[in-house]
Amino acid sequence: MEPTRLALVGAGVIGRTHIDRIQRDPQLRLAGIADPTPGGQALAASLGVPWAADHRRLLDDVRPQGAIVATPNATHVPVATDCLERGIPALVEKPVADSVADAQRLVEAEARCQTPVLVGHHRRHNPINRRAKALIAEGRLGRLVAATALALFLKPDAYFDVAWRRQAGGGPVLINLIHDIDMLRFLVGDIESVQAADSHAVRGFEVEDSAAAVLRFANGALGTITVSDAAASPWCWDFCAGEQVQYPRQEVQSHFIAGTHGSLSLPDLALWHYRGERSWHAELTREQTTVHQADPYARQLQHFADVISGRAAPLCSALDGLRTLQATLAVHEAAVSGQAVSCTLAG
Ligand SMILES: NC(=O)c1ccc[n+]([C@@H]2O[C@H](COP(=O)([O-])OP(=O)(O)OC[C@H]3O[C@@H](n4cnc5c(N)ncnc54)[C@H](O)[C@@H]3O)[C@@H](O)[C@H]2O)c1
Repeated sequence: MEPTRLALVGAGVIGRTHIDRIQRDPQLRLAGIADPTPGGQALAASLGVPWAADHRRLLDDVRPQGAIVATPNATHVPVATDCLERGIPALVEKPVADSVADAQRLVEAEARCQTPVLVGHHRRHNPINRRAKALIAEGRLGRLVAATALALFLKPDAYFDVAWRRQAGGGPVLINLIHDIDMLRFLVGDIESVQAADSHAVRGFEVEDSAAAVLRFANGALGTITVSDAAASPWCWDFCAGEQVQYPRQEVQSHFIAGTHGSLSLPDLALWHYRGERSWHAELTREQTTVHQADPYARQLQHFADVISGRAAPLCSALDGLRTLQATLAVHEAAVSGQAVSCTLAG
């Protein structure tokens, strides 16, 4: 089979991660790079692939089979729409857009152009989460009752030397918690409403350093989710799932999902259930599933190739990206208003 030719738009931190994974996979080939900076041009030259400052120029010149949009958030929708209008499927980094209205425009462009969008919520591609979703779908937990996610970690002081990271929107809710919200949406289901509180108490910046939210899922389950980038703590997915080599791995759990017939912790995939009588007086049995480890960024690109060829529907669609963004922005809105914020779609 011929390798799938992918163009990269935006050769920054995550863009270079995608390049690395493309180069490791014989079924993928880097078709070119669009990035206006000298660094982007130099990277393309060092890899011997076409380069353009403007993504439209690259798309028209090299006609890739798919494009990865790894530019700053505000440009995701216009750049991805340019891809879709050329019939080129797009893998769009998270958050899918800056606002729900902008994300809606991408959902409409996807339908108008009949060309698929995959949103880069890479955790969905981790075999741990695929197995967790299968266990839930098999009914091993019964009816879902509650879910808890912890995203507690410590960012170094130097991280905040960049001005936008001290300002509203540059904090752990939109940058980090969005991954946990998408993971809970993937495993538990759509979120109906959000209540939340946030705190700026540790650093005193405009941006929050901590937030806690209560989620009401459409299936009746409830969730709690806590994020802080000012906590000396091991309890977050990035530390315990082993996805990122830049973080030392911790043998702890960060996500907990409970149902009427069983409960599951993640990432260890321990499943707790009653063999006989279902009662808090009876013995609980712990079963352990161990999955093969796989790099979710590599899996995501393989899935993108399947989406391009029509072998698979996007595991995280533009609409999924919109709904995850909507619930994440609702955390901010609810923290300010003190009211529950609805996450149902208009129209
Ligand atoms: N899924 C993940 O794990 C993950 C991790 C990090 C970042 N991200 C997301 O990826 C996106 C990029 O983040 P980053 O940390 O790589 O940022 P970055 O600043 O390191 O890189 C962005 C790159 O885009 C280029 N760029 C800007 N405008 C452009 C345009 N119009 N056309 C072409 N190139 C353009 C810049 O020159 C820069 O090289 C963000 O949306 C971020 O939220 C996702």
